[in-house]
This record gives sequence, C-alpha cells and structure tokens, in this order.
Amino acid sequence: MGHVISIVNMKGGVGKTTVTVNLATCLAKDRAMRVLIVDLDTQINATLSLMPPLNFAQLRKEKRTLKQLVNQTIQPNPQSHFSIHDIIQRNICNVNGLDLLPGNIELYNDFLLAVLLYSKTNSSQQDFERNWNSLENSLIRTILQPVISSYDWIFLDFPPGDNLLTRSGLIASHFYLIPTKPEPLSVVGMGILEGHIKKLKHYDRTKIELFGIVFSSLGHATRMATKIKNRVSADFGEDKIFTTEIPTNVAVAKAVDQFQPVVLTEPTSTGARAFTELTREFVQRFSKAVGASPFKNS
Ligand SMILES: Nc1ncnc2c1ncn2[C@@H]1O[C@H](COP(=O)(O)OP(=O)(O)OP(=O)(O)O)[C@@H](O)[C@H]1O
Ligand SMILES: [Mg+2]
Repeated sequence: MGHVISIVNMKGGVGKTTVTVNLATCLAKDRAMRVLIVDLDTQINATLSLMPPLNFAQLRKEKRTLKQLVNQTIQPNPQSHFSIHDIIQRNICNVNGLDLLPGNIELYNDFLLAVLLYSKTNSSQQDFERNWNSLENSLIRTILQPVISSYDWIFLDFPPGDNLLTRSGLIASHFYLIPTKPEPLSVVGMGILEGHIKKLKHYDRTKIELFGIVFSSLGHATRMATKIKNRVSADFGEDKIFTTEIPTNVAVAKAVDQFQPVVLTEPTSTGARAFTELTREFVQRFSKAVGASPFKNS
C-alpha cells in the first residue's frame, strides 16, 4: 500500500512545489521507488516543473489532466469515462518510477461546487452540509484509489490557502510535510494549517500525521530566523524539524526554466545537494517511524 503525503502550508511561495518535485525525483532516481506527483494547484507549477508548456497544452487538449478525474467523480458520465491510468504521465523527465498526474488551470472552485451541490440538495442546510462533507471526504480518495497500491509514495502539491480540493487531499493523506521559511508570515500559514487539520481530526475525518517541517533558508542566519525556528521547535516539537535546510540557490530557480527539477539539471549545485540530503533524512525518518526500512537500496 502506498503512502500519501501532502506537501502543504497555507502560506504561498514557501517552496512547497520545489520540495515536492525534487524530493519525489530523488526517491525515484536514487532509491528506486515508485512515486506519483499529483498537481492539485491551478497554477500548475508542479506540472510545468516537470514538462514543457507545449506538452501540457497537448495533454489539456486531449483532456488528460486531473480536471477530467475531478469532473467525472463529481458528475459521472458513462459516455466519457477517463481512467486515471490513461492520464498519469509515466517516467516523467526520463526518471524510472517517477510519474505525474498533471494539473489543470481550470478545476472546480468552491463556488462552482457549492452551486452544484446546492442544486442536488433538498434546500435544507443540513442536507447541503452533509453532501459537502461527503464530497470532501471522498473526492481525492476516490481519484487515487485505483493506483494507490502501485506506488511507494504519492505526493500531493497544493495551492496556498484553503479550499475543498486541499481539504479532500489532506483527508486522503497519511502524512503531511510543511515547507516553510523562517519568517513570521510563513509561521502564520503553518498555524492556520494546524487549525484546519485539528478540526478535521476532531471530527474523525482523517488520520493524517505530521511527518516533519522543512525550512528553506532566507540566506544568512538572522536573529529573526533563529527566533522563529526556536518558536516552531517549541510549538511542534524539535524532533519534527528536519536537520536539512534548503539554501537559496539560483540553480533551483533556473531549473524551472528547463522543466526539470534541479536534482536533474544541476545535481552538484548546493540546492540539489540539499535535496539529496533531505531525501536521505526523509527515508531515515520514515524507517525510524515504521520501525523497519521498507526501502530498496537505502
Ligand atoms: N531553494 C531555492 N532557491 C532559489 N529559488 C527557490 C528555491 N526554492 C524555491 N525557489 C523559487 O521560489 C519560488 C517559490 O517556490 P515554490 O513555487 O516552490 O513555492 P510554493 O510554496 O509552491 O508557492 P505557491 O504557494 O505559489 O504554490 C519559485 O519561483 C521557485 O523556483
Ligand atoms: Mg506551489
């Protein structure tokens, strides 16, 4: 059975997508794992970090993106049934075992979903809430169910902020990993996320567990950065913070322009080396958590 992990922070621009694509690539390339990246963000940054825009445009034209799976889960149409197997892009960036479920710039937003569900209810608020919660509970689980056992890891890349797709992804996940920066607003984003997860757990809607927190450094160690890291450590537990930090490195940003993760474009750069080290720590933490290593070549 594969493990589903959400890479999430309610704050934008903290490195969620960069951590997702590089960690997933290293797990497939260096650890011989089967890994699927699911792009749940209408910015499609994970998709465009792994394939050129022309390839994405072709997939969109052929209706081979997450959008089709979301649509048919919400409004099934036997005439146009898409299988997740036809939509997943295999061995992406020529890395064996690294697969992508491409995102789409158009996915249902909460307003459209509310309109749709409202039209299906008996106009009672309770009925509407029941349908809404049931959709949140099932949407991403239903989409991933046919492939979950084919992977070691399924990585979910989210947009910043809270919406139904994000909550549904969190509900479907075994773990969550928080990329953050040592600055006040990123920590606010973590706090808001914790609030949402606490609420989902309170109502027994998910068993998701915090895997860890990864800091992307903002360059030199400032007094503010140290203070923030200490605060995060006190709030979440020191053991939850990855020792590996991701440095700011121009090779990481440049890699996006080549539609490949930095661990492939410039494997000896400081950024790529940090992601390789992060992968080692990720694997080690997971084996420790489960008591025995299920990993090949580790
Ligand atoms: N270590 C790094 N060094 C240099 N640039 C980086 C690094 N990590 C991320 N970036 C760049 O910073 C920007 C934000 O990173 P990223 O897209 O991963 O954040 P995000 O949290 O996914 O953002 P969003 O909330 O918009 O989805 C991107 O342009 C990315 O290329
Ligand atoms: Mg992103």
